Amino acid sequence: MIRISNGTEEPQEQPAEELLSIGQVSERTGVARSALHYYEELGLITSLRTSGNQRRYPRHLLRRISLITVGRQLGIALSDIKEALAPVPMDRLPSEEDWVRATAHWKLVLEARRRAIEELEDRLMGCIGCGCLSMQACNLLNPDDQLSQQGAGARRLDSDEYSE
Ligand code: FES
Repeated sequence: MIRISNGTEEPQEQPAEELLSIGQVSERTGVARSALHYYEELGLITSLRTSGNQRRYPRHLLRRISLITVGRQLGIALSDIKEALAPVPMDRLPSEEDWVRATAHWKLVLEARRRAIEELEDRLMGCIGCGCLSMQACNLLNPDDQLSQQGAGARRLDSDEYSE
């Protein structure tokens, strides 16, 4: 048993085999320690602390971390992944119902992403046929004329995007 704390409640004893060090999680999931720290910072995952203030991750988070990895491979923003995983609790072993709810959320996120890609694809096809590359007219280079909101004159050449 390991005595652990989540920082808000009384420390509890938990079976050592249910808690993993960051090195073990990294090895099991293939996710770098730095990325795990980052996920934790963003609230995508959480950890507990031992009495010696070492991080320990509940074993059930492995599934969550694997889904985060899949989401990233699909190009889904971490904020959307976080939203999709919101129904899955981190402070206890998720139930099948929790995962069913999360599946429905994932479906919505993926559908929104698919729609965005289809829309972008339509615009790109139009632009390939057109070729004007007009900052005023091209809905791909300047969607909804967003650049005009930054002021008059050439906007793109001043931006960081082109400074390297
Ligand atoms: S290149 Fe002409 S509209 Fe995009």
